[in-house]
Amino acid sequence: MANFIPQELIDRIRDANDVVDVISEYLPLKKRGKNWVGLCPFHPEKKPSFSVSQDKQLFYCFGCGQGGNVVTFLMLHEKVGFFEAITILAKRAGISLPKKSIEKGRLEEVDKIHYANKLANQYFVSSLKEKNLGKKTREYLEKRKVLPESIKLFSIGYAPKSWEGLLNYAKRKGLDLKTLEKAGLVVKKEKKEGYYDRFRDRLTFPIFNLSGKIIGFGGRDLSGKDEPKYLNSPETLIYQKGKILYGLNFSKEIIRGQKKAVVVEGYMDLISLYQAGLKNVVASSGTSFTSHQARLLSRYSDETYLFFDSDSAGMSAALRSVDYLFDAGLEVWIVTLPQEEDPDSYVKKFGVKKVLEKLKEAKSFIDFKKDFLNKDFSQLSIKEQEKIIFEFVETAKNIKDEIRQALFIKKVAEAFKIKEELLLGRAKRTRKEKETEEKVPHLKGKELLEQKLLKIFLEREDLLGLAYEKINPFCFDNPNHKKLFEIIVELWEKKKSFSPKVLVDFTDDFELKRLISKIVTIDLGPANLEVLLEDYLKRLFFIQKEKEIFRLKEEIKNALDGNDFESAKRLTFKLQELIKS
Ligand code: UTP
Ligand code: MN
Repeated sequence: MANFIPQELIDRIRDANDVVDVISEYLPLKKRGKNWVGLCPFHPEKKPSFSVSQDKQLFYCFGCGQGGNVVTFLMLHEKVGFFEAITILAKRAGISLPKKSIEKGRLEEVDKIHYANKLANQYFVSSLKEKNLGKKTREYLEKRKVLPESIKLFSIGYAPKSWEGLLNYAKRKGLDLKTLEKAGLVVKKEKKEGYYDRFRDRLTFPIFNLSGKIIGFGGRDLSGKDEPKYLNSPETLIYQKGKILYGLNFSKEIIRGQKKAVVVEGYMDLISLYQAGLKNVVASSGTSFTSHQARLLSRYSDETYLFFDSDSAGMSAALRSVDYLFDAGLEVWIVTLPQEEDPDSYVKKFGVKKVLEKLKEAKSFIDFKKDFLNKDFSQLSIKEQEKIIFEFVETAKNIKDEIRQALFIKKVAEAFKIKEELLLGRAKRTRKEKETEEKVPHLKGKELLEQKLLKIFLEREDLLGLAYEKINPFCFDNPNHKKLFEIIVELWEKKKSFSPKVLVDFTDDFELKRLISKIVTIDLGPANLEVLLEDYLKRLFFIQKEKEIFRLKEEIKNALDGNDFESAKRLTFKLQELIKS
């Protein structure tokens, strides 16, 4: 926690920024009853389940479970650390922060990792510009027809052939090695002390997050000999491969405008299309699409064009991506290229006009798959036909929206001349199975009881005083509930006060922040809280007792199994005492 800013100042900054005002700057909110609601910025949705409480100064999304206070909102939305979020809010409220807290040496971990990437990029970009050092790479870029404006826009650079180039550069700039390591930019030596540069003698493509901050790198080998062809940053606190789409920071507004996104595989594919004027493009960076990426894309577009290499790896990557895209509600089109071509080579050879024609000719997923078969469908054996139909049913099953599912099935039925109801039945039956799985109560009785108990404390601090002596953290089975209770008690002991918005900042754990916001939204009804508390405590003790009885019975059984009659006798006595009490 950023304890170098005095807590009083943090409190003052937070209180000067009303949660409704701040969130309204990012998304429209409407008043509904006591709360404000809007479309959640953290997951795609059509009906608002994102709720903001002005009273409690917290937000919570019933759809995805994201929640917290105004600081958390900024941290999540802007992908920054606590310190930076506080800085933004201080600025917004016209409160100045003490100078010394702004020293970079004191930045929080995530912010430091952001800073490390920024420094690395400065180093790579300036190396590319250096007369001799960057010459070979500049020539390579020229050969591949990457325009100077693209080199600038995409911050392409060169990591020199050196074991300690970046390392020394970062040291000079006062960055510690641990942070460089956490950013994935240097690697610890195996046998000896010390670190070495991860990226050496490679062309560098920085990977940006949605707000355009650099979170990692892809480094291309230039010799044609070094494996792998592309070396990427490892996953770090700020870079998770499956959660970002390369280039989306540049293309999101254009995609939002056109409602169409072209998905390519490679960095180079994206840059070539973009500089040729086709700007509604993102790159999956060679991995198959995750559901996260699909949902991300669906925030901006309605349709996706999968524009992958024509080799079989590219085609199967396309096929693997489809389910997630469908499920995210996206219409999927598949563009096919002549053998040996990829979008990069194609646009350079034939120009953007031809690419646009290709996009127009794109096939629907069903037609694509049909054509992908090496024979005509009717020529296949029944077994083979069945397999293909089942694959479509599988895809259909993954579409949660019923209307969309029905429409998809209708198309499959038409394409393969099969009764629609038959397919629908198949997809539905298994949908039912899934639903029952999901219906297994998420919150078993005890979970909810624990949350309600915590809710009472968050509602009325003084009631903790009443319960404080009677319960302890071990009464909570859910580890997060236990943690939350511990924090509440800690704050209570220190300050006799723990309002939810303060609690949210007291922990670094985002799961806890969400939990607090969620608990705040629990409705306890109109009952008197003292009476409720008493009731909950009774139930809690009852469950505790049941559990203890169960445990003792097990122990007795074990003792008897092991012919340990002495222990069995002692335990039985204990059990009788417990039941009597
Ligand atoms: P490709 O092998 O198709 O490379 O991988 P490319 O984009 O066409 O690159 P050039 O044109 O040869 O320079 C597509 C993407 O897969 C990821 C990279 O993101 C690459 O852009 N990839 C590929 C890796 O991460 N590692 C690899 O070794 C290869
Ligand atoms: Mn290529």
